[in-house]
Amino acid sequence: MRQLIAGNWKMNGTAAMAADLVGALAAAGELPCDLLVCPPATLIAEVARLLTGSTVAVGGQDCHARPSGAHTGDIAAPMLRDAGATWVILGHSERRADHGETNEVVYAKVLAAVAAGLTPIVCVGETEAESQAGQQAAVVAGQLSGSLPEDFAGAVAYEPIWAIGTGKTPTEADVTAMHALIRGRLKELLGPTGERILILYGGSVKPENAAALLALPEVGGALVGGASLKAADFLAIAAAAQA
Ligand code: PGA
Repeated sequence: MRQLIAGNWKMNGTAAMAADLVGALAAAGELPCDLLVCPPATLIAEVARLLTGSTVAVGGQDCHARPSGAHTGDIAAPMLRDAGATWVILGHSERRADHGETNEVVYAKVLAAVAAGLTPIVCVGETEAESQAGQQAAVVAGQLSGSLPEDFAGAVAYEPIWAIGTGKTPTEADVTAMHALIRGRLKELLGPTGERILILYGGSVKPENAAALLALPEVGGALVGGASLKAADFLAIAAAAQA
């Protein structure tokens, strides 16, 4: 399976910025991986239009658990699909922290995303305090069993919260151990499908550390925040993927 390099633009981006960034991605030519960009909801339709005919996919950063209704300010999965998205990030730690999203909420959103034809990327990862207390394995195992339905067929992103936007990354040994643990848990939860789920690493992935992280066992790609806002950096990370 090809590695996936996914860009999470978070709450950043204007139409002008998207045109520059996405234009550079579409012109990049052959890469050793698949590319996905997840702009803010306001730009999904425009980015999808700009990427028509390219292999770069478009995703949302969240969706509501209901397909429509009286939920002011929210965006439903079928609306993302209608705008041109084929993927959606769910349960990002910033959603879990800023919007109180529990594993149960993420589970419901996964069902909604799949029903709308979107492939979910479910994020898991421990806080710094949990890491220092040696609880990361238990935390991540609990997030996986609580957030994933038993027929899950999307991707998982391991993002230690203390590594997001901080420039800090876990050691290669720690990433390897956590990805092995996630693979084992996915097989327990999902059976043979669990072997094929892409497990992305996220948290301060940069051009400088991408090759080392992407070469680790069971790392199926990267979920990139800050460095996905600059085409040169995002493409350098993509170029570092394992062919
Ligand atoms: P970062 O964000 O690359 O800026 O650390 C990663 C993420 O939150 O997905």
